Amino acid sequence: MKIQSLIQQSFEAKKFSYSPYSKFAVGAALLCQDGTVVTGCNVENAAYAPAICAERCAYTKAISMGQKEFKAIAISSNLDDFIAPCGVCRQTMVEFSEDIDVYMTKPDGTYKMMKITELLPHSFRPSRLLQ
Ligand code: THU
Repeated sequence: MKIQSLIQQSFEAKKFSYSPYSKFAVGAALLCQDGTVVTGCNVENAAYAPAICAERCAYTKAISMGQKEFKAIAISSNLDDFIAPCGVCRQTMVEFSEDIDVYMTKPDGTYKMMKITELLPHSFRPSRLLQ
């Protein structure tokens, strides 16, 4: 899978963003170990708290499809800067892999890649702690 294709799919997913409150559309494309790509977008709510980020939308879809191993995720927004995942999304990412590549893009398609362990050092993962 070429990373530009994954990024393009996150751009496509952004079009479905439901963000009438923040007007901040976000798309995500999650690459599974078997090559499947699962996309997501942010879904907001009048009560605010039920809102979900694009990354966790993609993860929730992927898990519900039986996927549990992930290689990379691309995130896109209309912000004229690299879009970084929030802390809740970082914790969701590290739950399933400490080795996932996170591609934070700009609208022009340029990106910055960081490992989840760089974005969330010393993460809380009881399964690892109990090993
Ligand atoms: N949001 C994402 O969907 N992904 C991020 O990486 C950062 C923030 C959205 C934007 C807005 O909808 C807010 O989070 C609501 O949770």
